[in-house]
Amino acid sequence: MKKYVVAGCSSGIGLSITKNLLEQGHQVIGMNRNSPDLSHDLFSFVSIDFGSQEIILPEIVGSIDGIFYCPGSIQLRPFKNLKPIDFINDFILNVVGASILIKQYLPQLQLANEPGILLFSSVAAQTGMSFHSSIATAKAGIEGLTRSLAAEFAPKIRVNAIAPSLTQTPLSDKFINTPEKLNASKERHPLKNIGSANDLATCAIQIMNNNWMTGQIIAIDGGLSSIR
Ligand SMILES: NC(=O)c1ccc[n+]([C@@H]2O[C@H](COP(=O)([O-])OP(=O)(O)OC[C@H]3O[C@@H](n4cnc5c(N)ncnc54)[C@H](OP(=O)(O)O)[C@@H]3O)[C@@H](O)[C@H]2O)c1
Repeated sequence: MKKYVVAGCSSGIGLSITKNLLEQGHQVIGMNRNSPDLSHDLFSFVSIDFGSQEIILPEIVGSIDGIFYCPGSIQLRPFKNLKPIDFINDFILNVVGASILIKQYLPQLQLANEPGILLFSSVAAQTGMSFHSSIATAKAGIEGLTRSLAAEFAPKIRVNAIAPSLTQTPLSDKFINTPEKLNASKERHPLKNIGSANDLATCAIQIMNNNWMTGQIIAIDGGLSSIR
């Protein structure tokens, strides 16, 4: 049995990661604002707002095998309507929150055998898309953090990220909440579909378990970033 921290365990991809890990018999400590509707002997939850100015994380005794950081945002707006605070808020939630969590539990990660960190970028970090300037900037920060920490923490701790395209979760609901919007989103992707939370969660766990991989940004995006 391994012990994982899943930030963003209440919804979407993080919830699917949490359920998969629990099914595999691992211990999960979930952290975000709202407790998920989950009752399991191996699951515990601490309410944390990673977008706040003051984040107080709980003490965790013993080793931690891995950290998944899933909180993120999709505020799509024309650049002319974005204020500096929008860039700051996206950066805090996506990048600073991850940095605070990793820094807090670095000693516990170092105690583990072959520990890992898995972060979430977005297809928009590497592929220019209208109205994505704030979130793409923050997610590009996640990609820089991934590679820098992978270098700094090698050979002990592996650090990787997944860059998804549109995935069916509460975060993306407003873009796919009618049959027309859903079909248009599917059509934009070479594989003519959008992702499911489980598609992303199973990949995240595989990457976490792969001991010969670090500093990578893996596109799970229906081919959007690489196929014409
Ligand atoms: N879904 C997509 O289409 C898509 C596309 C590209 C990238 N991504 C990235 O994939 C990751 C997971 O996305 P998702 O679709 O699974 O999102 P989601 O369904 O909205 O879930 C996000 C999780 O993060 C938590 N969270 C949000 N704000 C938080 C805050 N201020 N403090 C603490 N926790 C917070 C939420 O819990 P609480 O609300 O309870 O706090 C929730 O558990 C994100 O980083 C996202 O940017 C998603």
